[in-house]
Amino acid sequence: MNAYKNIAVRAAERAGNFVAKAFANRDRIIAQSKGPNDFVSNIDKQAEEIIIDAIKHSYPDHAILAEESGHQGDSDTVWVIDPIDGTTNFLQGIPHFAISIAVKQKGKTLAAVIYDPIKDEMFTASNGGGAQLNNTRIRVSEKKKLDNALLATGFPFRGHQNLEDYLRYFETIFPLCVDMRRAGAASLDLAYVAAGRLDGFWEFGLSEWDTAAGILIIKEAGGFVGDVKGNPYQEKSKSILAATPGVFKHFMKNVKDL
Ligand code: IPD
Ligand code: CA
Ligand code: CA
Ligand code: CA
Repeated sequence: MNAYKNIAVRAAERAGNFVAKAFANRDRIIAQSKGPNDFVSNIDKQAEEIIIDAIKHSYPDHAILAEESGHQGDSDTVWVIDPIDGTTNFLQGIPHFAISIAVKQKGKTLAAVIYDPIKDEMFTASNGGGAQLNNTRIRVSEKKKLDNALLATGFPFRGHQNLEDYLRYFETIFPLCVDMRRAGAASLDLAYVAAGRLDGFWEFGLSEWDTAAGILIIKEAGGFVGDVKGNPYQEKSKSILAATPGVFKHFMKNVKDL
């Protein structure tokens, strides 16, 4: 498990250095549209190649699920990769994005890494081995209720699917909490909940590469993860809620009739 974590850390550092350099130089970034309000750049694709090369070097037989190149290989062990989580921030020159890598075996996540190359913050976890930020143990905050909780969210910006559904939850929860952040990188939202910087995070319509690493890091940091209806989180879940145990329960109590 730690061997997987170490390879994931190395791959994230390599890709992170590449992405940070491109972010500073700006001129060689070529963006394309994948759909309504949904972008990818040559840097996302090259970062993904760097990560996959690093993994294949050590584990040539493992499978890969990566945002920009899809699924490859057939193995019980799958590396789930988001090469730049927060592409819109990256393209706009906002220094808030991350590389997210999770290692799953028969559906169970064994190791996870989220790396913010601008702040040089490496969030890691292994199954049963706790969660760390730059090798120092992290835990979710002690907050027990929404009243003193700072939450993060993501808006349904891609074609605005689920917008009405999303707004019903927003209208219910926003008046109950301290405030809501929308920073634009779901992996970092999850990592910040694990580190106690945020007390909860919820969003509709995320993909496995956005959440796989963050879910293990939050669980290992003592947090709860489910969907906004309180069901256990699954790869196909349409929403995610991750929070301290108390904030998770208080959120659920307030949305049970929506
Ligand atoms: C996106 C970011 C964003 C979230 C989106 C994700 P990407 O990932 O995490 O915060 O709101 O739903 O898809 O496309 O930048 O890797
Ligand atoms: Ca994307
Ligand atoms: Ca993403
Ligand atoms: Ca991405």
